[in-house]
Amino acid sequence: MDSDIRLFGKAAGEQVQLITLDNGTIACQIITYGAAICALYVNNKAHERTDIVLGYDTLQEYMQQDGYFGAAVGRYANRIANGRFTLNGKAYSLAKNDGNNHLHGGNVGFSHRIWQIKRVQSDKLELALYSSDGEEGYPGSLDIRIIYTLEGAALSIRYIAAADKDTLCNLTNHSYFNLAGHGSGSIAAQKLAVYADDYIPCDAENIPLGGIAPVADTPMDLRTPVSFGARLASDFAQIKQAHGFDHNFVIAPAAGQMRLAAQAWCEQTGIAMRVHTTLPGVQLYTANYIEPPRRGKGGCAYSKHGAFCLETQFFPDSPNRPDFPCAVLKTGEYFDNTTIYSFYTE
Ligand code: BGC
Repeated sequence: MDSDIRLFGKAAGEQVQLITLDNGTIACQIITYGAAICALYVNNKAHERTDIVLGYDTLQEYMQQDGYFGAAVGRYANRIANGRFTLNGKAYSLAKNDGNNHLHGGNVGFSHRIWQIKRVQSDKLELALYSSDGEEGYPGSLDIRIIYTLEGAALSIRYIAAADKDTLCNLTNHSYFNLAGHGSGSIAAQKLAVYADDYIPCDAENIPLGGIAPVADTPMDLRTPVSFGARLASDFAQIKQAHGFDHNFVIAPAAGQMRLAAQAWCEQTGIAMRVHTTLPGVQLYTANYIEPPRRGKGGCAYSKHGAFCLETQFFPDSPNRPDFPCAVLKTGEYFDNTTIYSFYTE
């Protein structure tokens, strides 16, 4: 099948394209605004294609959204406490766009920029973005490529970036999954496993309290599959405070290797998903703040706990935590990380 590119809308006079990738097994739609995945069709157990990611029908809604539906997030995904960090002895100050803290790259992160199409074929799309020196307060200019590839029943997302000064780089994708179909409401009956021995406890502003903590003997232990509902109802302080899961789990693959980070299942559709990554952590977020409910694609209502995100990334606030894996991208080096979402039915 040929790749399909069409006009999705215009942002400040600039064209935003919608690209459809289809390899005959799965299909994916991506818009150049925010490099956002706006639809992902996988087969259910009756061999019917089911769209399992939340999204919007119009560019306007993507431009106005604060939920980062499907978007590529950067330059630094997740939070940086007080919007401050020090690099090579110099202090930097970033926008505080989430209370007292910096979130997902600032006021105009990569999720709210128009990306350029570099290469497109039926099962592959390469998008590029240039982020200038000082943009959103970050040092150095950064050249970013994201390559989306359909391989059988899998979507691979490879991030490559290089900077002309040492800078921070933490790129992720913020898709909201609902394996029963994007508009099917609560994920309570769906099951999840996160293959992490440790996680990062946070304060009420989602800033790490200290270091990492073992999941053992707590409801954060997701190493054996459990329903979302069972854990979302837990009165464990970390889950109550965040109104669900909004936590980074330690995946720690060996350098340059991929590791199975998480798996999720939906009995109703039979759709199951695996997440493999080369990145050190995964933020499990259960759409805790989709309140009041939003109207999404096809007029569907999306509400709290109506989806889950598995955002592979460096740990929150790592620029201020010397004990966490370092998210500094040095001049002359490449940020090169891949996350694969693969699907099967049971
Ligand atoms: C964060 C949440 C935040 C959401 C939408 C997630 O990655 O962990 O705290 O509300 O993104 O901004």
